Amino acid sequence: MIHFNVPPFVGTEFKYMREAVENHKICGDGPFTKKCDEWIEERFSTPKAMLTTSGSTALDMAALLCGFKPGDEVILPSYTFSSTANSFVLAGAKLVFVDIRPDTMNIDEKKIEQAITEHTRAIVPVHYAGVACEMDTIMDIAKKYNLIVVEDAAQAVMSTYKGKALGSIGDFGCFSFHETKNYSMGEGGAILINYEKYIERAEILREKGTNRSQFFRGQVAKYNWVDFGDSYLQSDLNAAYLWAQLQVADEINDNRLSTWNAYYEVFKEYESEGIIELPVIPDGCVHNAHMFYIKFKNLETRQDYIRFMKENDILCVFHYVPLHSAPAGLKFGRFDGIDEYTTKESERLVRLPLYYNIASEDRAKVIEKTKEYLNRL
Ligand SMILES: Cc1ncc(COP(=O)(O)O)c(C=O)c1O
Repeated sequence: MIHFNVPPFVGTEFKYMREAVENHKICGDGPFTKKCDEWIEERFSTPKAMLTTSGSTALDMAALLCGFKPGDEVILPSYTFSSTANSFVLAGAKLVFVDIRPDTMNIDEKKIEQAITEHTRAIVPVHYAGVACEMDTIMDIAKKYNLIVVEDAAQAVMSTYKGKALGSIGDFGCFSFHETKNYSMGEGGAILINYEKYIERAEILREKGTNRSQFFRGQVAKYNWVDFGDSYLQSDLNAAYLWAQLQVADEINDNRLSTWNAYYEVFKEYESEGIIELPVIPDGCVHNAHMFYIKFKNLETRQDYIRFMKENDILCVFHYVPLHSAPAGLKFGRFDGIDEYTTKESERLVRLPLYYNIASEDRAKVIEKTKEYLNRL
């Protein structure tokens, strides 16, 4: 069976995890957490990065740091994971879904302004498949209407937009290190805090509402419960696992890109014949090969392809069912304007196996079987 995903493992994970155990320091904010935080800050030019227990809780932190008041609205795409929406519902905001662009599957930046009301407080661009949203336009709109921008960069670690790391452009960026992501610690994430003004509150929020971080830095004589908070600290054992991969981040990225490029080279011929559509990488965007997808003509053909591949022991999967039509989406949000592309495009999309160090024979089999299927269309 060729799996859709195999979590990354580079070989040094156990060494570092052993070190963490032998240090007798496996709770949060240990040496490996610090190494990971600093690596993210340096590599992606952000003043503060904090590992969290998941991409979802990184989004939870960002949403709480927005400081919503009753009735506040948040603009986001409907074509995304439930986590993007959950965090803002939990923080008390109403969801306003905006259509996607059919080329990148990202929020259509041209449809954001019309969704803004006097209650709008934030925009949440989701960088689908590690390909950037049109951030210049989004940041201009945010500036014009004084809105907070939370980048859901769960899939976009190592991707850039006009030379800037995704996650480092808005007020906050949220990474995921789930096992399905390019870099993993099983479950995990990070929040990038791109403005100093949020840092103190963020530290308190993640430390159960206490000013313990200030205490450890010797800034206060004792620590106290100073505001509401929660525990978002990742275990140092998990951070040790992640650290192994961050040290070879470029190698992992190159390895994934080589598979992505191999797929693209073979399948572009079918795209030019109008049989399928492939991902579009706009000018100025450098992606991280998080995902390779194909879009078929319609839902039936996509489902038939998934079935065909499964019969050949290859697991290909579809992606998000749009949130605005899901029960919770109907309860917590509304779709602004017309759903021109969200539902239609999501029904056509299928993801191919792509992971670090996929065996060359497995990659070749995915290509061969897909060609066999496409040649029949
Ligand atoms: C776009 C998006 N946002 C948020 C998340 C949540 O990340 P996690 O699974 O680490 O909580 C994911 C991951 O599946 C995602 O793809």
